[in-house]
Amino acid sequence: MPPALLRSAVLAASRSARVERLVSSAPVSRDVVRRFVGGPDRTSAVAAARELIATGLTVSLDHLGEDCTDRDRARAVVTEYTELLRALAEAGLVERVEPLAARAEVSVKLSAIGQALPVDGEKLALDHARAICRAAADVGATVTLDMEDHTTTDSTLGILRELRVDFPDVGAVLQAYLRRTEGDCRDLATAGSRVRLCKGAYREPESVAYTKRLDVDLSYVRCLNILMSGAGYPMIATHDPRLIEIAAERAKFHGKSAGSEFEFQLLYGIRPDEQRRLAENQHTVRVYVPYGAQWYGYLMRRLAERPANLAFFARAVAGRG
Ligand code: FDA
Repeated sequence: MPPALLRSAVLAASRSARVERLVSSAPVSRDVVRRFVGGPDRTSAVAAARELIATGLTVSLDHLGEDCTDRDRARAVVTEYTELLRALAEAGLVERVEPLAARAEVSVKLSAIGQALPVDGEKLALDHARAICRAAADVGATVTLDMEDHTTTDSTLGILRELRVDFPDVGAVLQAYLRRTEGDCRDLATAGSRVRLCKGAYREPESVAYTKRLDVDLSYVRCLNILMSGAGYPMIATHDPRLIEIAAERAKFHGKSAGSEFEFQLLYGIRPDEQRRLAENQHTVRVYVPYGAQWYGYLMRRLAERPANLAFFARAVAGRG
């Protein structure tokens, strides 16, 4: 099957409850999930964070779970983040490394805290996000709002603007595959503004997104240029060796210092050698560590990105991984 079709099929499966039941109940080797997920609970996530930080990396922890359509569950997610932030502080992991972020911070999906609820969803997500930001500020940590599919972009950026009034260090995420993103980069490249630039992980229509790899990469470079030439703090989230190299070069060109004026971000379990290499070269490197029982949607997006990951997963499901 051509790679683009395969990616599209896996992303479609990531939204299917039927496939989720099938995959979740398959005797998947625990190692497959463990490779990409920091652990099943808060304690194991804090332990994973401690291990990474001990090797000179920084982390952003993400409690897995999205598309929450239940008020009680949304509230429970806020409680989980509050407890996580307390646990990180108690473990001594939230010390600041740059002027703008701590060694351990948290990433939050607004859909997990109520954004998708039909009545008042946006207001609920804002109130919940505010509670998480307050808990983070209390222990000296920071928060980044993950970005989800394009139907949520305006709402998420609106909530970000509101949060930044009281918590100016809240990080944004922009996705290079969206045609609108260069404009959003311009808007957000302001002093103190933490912006994670990624390619984008959802299945999006051609009307709003570039769908060819080359076009996404070219958009990424244009966005990089805008962020690196601006006054904000770019967070370069990619495993792509070419884009990592271009980012380092663009930073040098625009006079942004490695280690303090921008950072690289990579996902837990992906290119760990590159994570260490960048850190050894004086870069701040943040590893995104997802944790929790609801790993299905996250894992499927990772599998869609790379046929090699898919083969690894298929072998494991078949009991040969
Ligand atoms: P891509 O997947 O195109 O890979 C490019 C190249 O990288 C490959 O050709 C290969 O050379 C190398 N590579 C990739 N995976 C490898 C592997 N396993 N082993 C060895 N080499 C490998 N998305 C989103 O929509 N919203 C969000 O909030 C976030 N947040 C986020 C945070 C962080 C820290 C990261 C790193 C990523 C995200 N993403 C995201 C996901 C992002 O949008 C994207 O889907 C993935 O990062 C994959 O894209 P890459 O840029 O890594 O390139």
